Amino acid sequence: MNTPMEKVEVKLPGRAYWIEIGSGTLGRLGSRLRELISAKRVTLITDQNVGPLHAARLIKSLESSNFQVADITVPGGESSKSLEQARLIYDELAGLSHGRHDPMIALGGGVVGDLSGFVAATWMRGVPFVQCPTTLEADIDAGVGGKTAVNHASGKNMIGVFYQPSLVWIDVDCLCTLNDRDYRAGLAESVKHAVIFDEAFLQWHEEHVDAITAREPRIVQELVRRNCEIKAAVVVEDEKEAASKGVGRAALNFGHTVGHAIEAVSEYELRHGEAVSLGMVAALDLAVRHCHFPDRERQRIESLLSALGLPVRSARPLDASALFARMRSDKKAKHQTIRFVLPSRIGNVAWFEAPAEESVADAIDRVIGA
Ligand SMILES: NC(=O)c1ccc[n+]([C@@H]2O[C@H](COP(=O)([O-])OP(=O)(O)OC[C@H]3O[C@@H](n4cnc5c(N)ncnc54)[C@H](O)[C@@H]3O)[C@@H](O)[C@H]2O)c1
Ligand SMILES: [Zn+2]
Repeated sequence: MNTPMEKVEVKLPGRAYWIEIGSGTLGRLGSRLRELISAKRVTLITDQNVGPLHAARLIKSLESSNFQVADITVPGGESSKSLEQARLIYDELAGLSHGRHDPMIALGGGVVGDLSGFVAATWMRGVPFVQCPTTLEADIDAGVGGKTAVNHASGKNMIGVFYQPSLVWIDVDCLCTLNDRDYRAGLAESVKHAVIFDEAFLQWHEEHVDAITAREPRIVQELVRRNCEIKAAVVVEDEKEAASKGVGRAALNFGHTVGHAIEAVSEYELRHGEAVSLGMVAALDLAVRHCHFPDRERQRIESLLSALGLPVRSARPLDASALFARMRSDKKAKHQTIRFVLPSRIGNVAWFEAPAEESVADAIDRVIGA
């Protein structure tokens, strides 16, 4: 089904670009890219799951606009976010003589986006980069904001750069092939954006729970657009997470202090969004006790997460001391002191430094299962 495209501008000084969102638009990227770029060749990077489902339409559209297309397929899953995988791609780019002005296109979820973005930023000191996200997580979070990375043995996303794309092209129809668990996991970031930024958007979720979970195209497109607007606004205010006063881009970390630790301690059995859902529940518990966040609003958000099919208690018990150890070694901890981004009301978050350990333990108890 084709619906009108919607556009969100990421107004970064000197590097402004558009996020263009539509339904059934993957087959139109070629002509859009032609308006932006005169190169003859492009390299498409995708993964083994997404490639067979969606690459043909994209390649046909690029070829119709006179691009010569080379495609590189990486294995699906987080293990592809590695320096080794990046090196294999560099080898292929060398074989293809991929030049300084030839664009690189990422077609896939956050893994393909983060890996390809890192390669695009570093190959010949940076080539034009286009994101075509295909998961909800990537549509509303990973695909927007210019963070690229691969993982290192010492932790996730340890090696990376900020590198903004030239265009983000979102065809929400790609989500039709995404499994239910991954789709719902992506919704956690949508609730996060609403809590940190926009009470009206939280209410919009409550009013459209059935349509959201049924993936009604018009509603999904609206959800993606509003999320992109929110993420773009946060990124434009503080592109490199360097805010000297206020919380800046780190607002996006709401739910992630406990969430990242749960994700790791579950040995990645939980999806990122599921862990973030639990992390938000724990953070809201702290917010009620320390930041005057109203308890009825905490209950409201928990009910919404449940209605969207996201966990609010871990199904399998998790080890609290392992979670503490992880949180202390988190990149965003300062001198091993755990820090949280917490709301005082919906739409307003701030750093909360070094809470008492018993308080954090209580918040964690709420979500880690019996
Ligand atoms: N750069 C950022 O700002 C940022 C933000 C959030 C998350 N991330 C990163 O994103 C990654 C997670 O992204 P994700 O949740 O998209 O995971 P993913 O890329 O691993 O995709 C999940 C699974 O779905 C498959 N898939 C993707 N699109 C599909 C489709 N349309 N139909 C069928 N299957 C499809 C993939 O092959 C994979 O198996 C993590 O590495 C995380 O660190 C980055
Ligand atoms: Zn996240």
